[in-house]
Amino acid sequence: MIDLLNEIEAAALAELAGVSDAAGLEAWRIAYLGTKGRLKAAMGGLKDVPAAQKPAVGQRLNAVKGTLEAAHEVAKGRLSGSARQASGPILDLTEPGLHEAGAPGRRHIISRVRDELVEVFARMGFDAATGPELEDDEHNFVKLNIPASHPARDPADNFYVDDPARTPRPRMLRSQTSTVQVRVMEDAVARGWGPPVKVVAPGRVYRPDTVDATHSFMFHQIEGLCIDRGISMADLKSTLLHFARAYFGPATQVRLRPSYFPFTEPSAEFDMRIRLRPDQPERWMELGGCGMVDPAVLAACGIDPEEWTGFAFGFGIERLAMGKYAIPDIRMLFENDARFLAQL
Ligand code: DAH
Repeated sequence: MIDLLNEIEAAALAELAGVSDAAGLEAWRIAYLGTKGRLKAAMGGLKDVPAAQKPAVGQRLNAVKGTLEAAHEVAKGRLSGSARQASGPILDLTEPGLHEAGAPGRRHIISRVRDELVEVFARMGFDAATGPELEDDEHNFVKLNIPASHPARDPADNFYVDDPARTPRPRMLRSQTSTVQVRVMEDAVARGWGPPVKVVAPGRVYRPDTVDATHSFMFHQIEGLCIDRGISMADLKSTLLHFARAYFGPATQVRLRPSYFPFTEPSAEFDMRIRLRPDQPERWMELGGCGMVDPAVLAACGIDPEEWTGFAFGFGIERLAMGKYAIPDIRMLFENDARFLAQL
């Protein structure tokens, strides 16, 4: 009997969704809610239900009747086009949806991976920080020890908003989240809450790269910064190792390769050795850059490099997501094709 009631409800709601005029609605009402309708017929069967089950069946019957009557009211409002003029509230926002099979929305894969990363670092004591996407060259370059002559500052490689040749402190879309290191250190000093400083900063960055399978003019990075007394390269490596194991599994390995960045000394690039799928061999995935914060950067932000040391790292979120989910082309992440996004 309960099955029958469920079936009546489902059929009625499905049919109602296709009703497009008042005559159709009236026919629907007669078929389901009328004195000779399916619900009345089902009520007739109540007398054959064993006494013990009667309360449950009766309750379900009333519930179905209530649902169909409410759905009828809603449809009436919809068809008359005068929902707003109706006297009572015909749109009950607490009603369960009529289309249970409908696809609910979901958050974009990049947003989900970003939040997972912040969460993993939060467990290691990192706060989350953000900074503006519209920056100035002071935060994007100068205080990060990137001199005016450095090729990274070439106007052809950056989205300047002001002409760098004519404006003293030209604005630009940030090309790296390392800007947030500077912002956080300045804020810590200005407002006296640090150092110590321990933050990660995820966000969008912009570079005028030609778009292809691995490049986009906009992508996401996550930056890490840890400043305290006596911080060393060993803290950096163990942080990256803990992160890698928490995110990719306990067997993951981390490798640092000597490199150069103007804002760290020494600098390294870091890779993770991961097995993405059980049927695939382990492989090294290049993730990003890191190092010990250059004393000149600490000093530029008002922190005494004799007293404090720190490490920093930064890596691309798309690259990590593409590795983890075997996504072959970065453009797929930004085309917003729901058929692709629904698989992730
Ligand atoms: N900002 C660098 C980039 O976009 C990545 C990076 C390297 C960030 C070293 C760091 C770091 O914090 O210490 O290529």
